[in-house]
This record gives sequence, structure tokens and C-alpha cells, in this order.
Amino acid sequence: MAVASKQGLFIEGYYKSLSPDLEKLRKENETDNIPLILRETEDMLSVLLSLKKPKYILELGTAHGYSAIFFATKCPDAHITTIERSEKMYDAAKTCIDDSGFADRIELFKGDAEDILSNHKFDYTYDFAFIDAGKTHYKEYFELIEKICNPGAVIVCDNILINGWIYDRELPGARRHRTNVKYMKSFLEYINSREDLTVSLSSSGDGLAIIKLDE
Ligand SMILES: C[S@@+](CC[C@H](N)C(=O)[O-])C[C@H]1O[C@@H](n2cnc3c(N)ncnc32)[C@H](O)[C@@H]1O
Repeated sequence: MAVASKQGLFIEGYYKSLSPDLEKLRKENETDNIPLILRETEDMLSVLLSLKKPKYILELGTAHGYSAIFFATKCPDAHITTIERSEKMYDAAKTCIDDSGFADRIELFKGDAEDILSNHKFDYTYDFAFIDAGKTHYKEYFELIEKICNPGAVIVCDNILINGWIYDRELPGARRHRTNVKYMKSFLEYINSREDLTVSLSSSGDGLAIIKLDE
């Protein structure tokens, strides 16, 4: 799980939760060590969602459903599709989503994201996507998501800095996570090489790639 840096902790001091329910869910997730978006990441997503005003949002990596419930809170007219591979996480997310009152707008899939993206015929095309699942497969996810996104869609990828290990081999843990680092670097090179994409790499949270598809 990504750890907030000193800079991140300072910035997070200015974070305000969107609702008491989200605040409670965040605290529960943090207490139980369930992975979820950092506060800084949530704030960045909040601004992007306000600008884009998506009607259909796709997420890879649900965990206990915090970010999906955040999307539903922030975008009251949006439909959210979220995919989770772990059975345990899926079951917990289902309970949290039912309890949130947003179950009619959050569609939860159980299974491997690449598998579902390759084989499921989706009812919607998406304006906004959030990639927060296995770090070695971002390129495959991205190429599959693109096919079901509308022109001008925004795709945000979390954890691109992988705790700083992506740029600092000396950091403890860097060696152990070198497969993630290798694949993430290759994903960043790939999006950078695509002339048709507008890309911003941000150090917000654990690092975000904010990508806009051509109109
Ligand atoms: C960082 S957590 C997601 C946190 C969530 N977005 C939030 O902020 O509340 C990543 C999740 O992705 C799931 N995951 C990892 N690889 C996956 C895959 N290939 N397909 C679907 N889910 C996957 C993990 O089980 C984990 O629950």
C-alpha cells in the first residue's frame, strides 16, 4: 500500500471529506489496513471529475468500494462500473456498496480486470476511467479500456511512482518490487510515445498518470 510522503501528509492536512459516510468508511478502511486512494489522490480526482462531469465511470480495483462510493457521491448522475478480482474484497465491497445507498448506480464485477475487459460486452461506453489494480498490467488495461471509452475520455492511473521505487533504486523495497517497476516504466514510456494522447504525470499521492484521449 502506498505511504503518504512528508509532502503528502502536509497537503493532506487541507483535505476535506465529501460526506460523513465517506469519512467513516475511510477511517474503517485505514484501521483495517484495506487499500484505498490517498486523500491527496481523492482531491485530484475530485477536481478532474468536476471538470469532466462524466456520466459513465469505469474503475479497475475496487477493494472495499471506497473510491467507487466516492465517485457516486461526487457525481450524483453517474453510473459506476468497478471490477475486483479478490473474492474477499468483492464480498466486502458488495456489503459497503449496499450500505452506502448507491447500489443502484454502482455495478460491481467479480473477476480479473483484463479478462472481464476482454470478454464482457459492456452496456456503456465510458467518459472517465480509474486504473487502480495490478501494476504489471497497466498497458493491457489501458488498451482495453480505450476501446470502450468515448472520445475525449479521461483515464487516470494510480500508483505510477510505486512508493518512489520507480526512480530510486536505493530505497528499501525497490529490489523486491522490481517487476512492478519494470512494467510501470514501460507503461509510462508507452503512453509518452503515443502522439494522440494528452498526458500529465503528477506526483500527487503515489503518483498519477492523467491521460486524455483525443476528442
Ligand atoms: C489499491 S486497491 C483498490 C483501492 C480502491 N480503488 C479504493 O480506493 O477504495 C487494488 C485492488 O485491485 C485488486 N486487483 C489487483 N489485481 C486485479 C486484477 N487483475 N483484476 C481486478 N482487480 C485486481 C486488488 O485485489 C485490490 O483490491
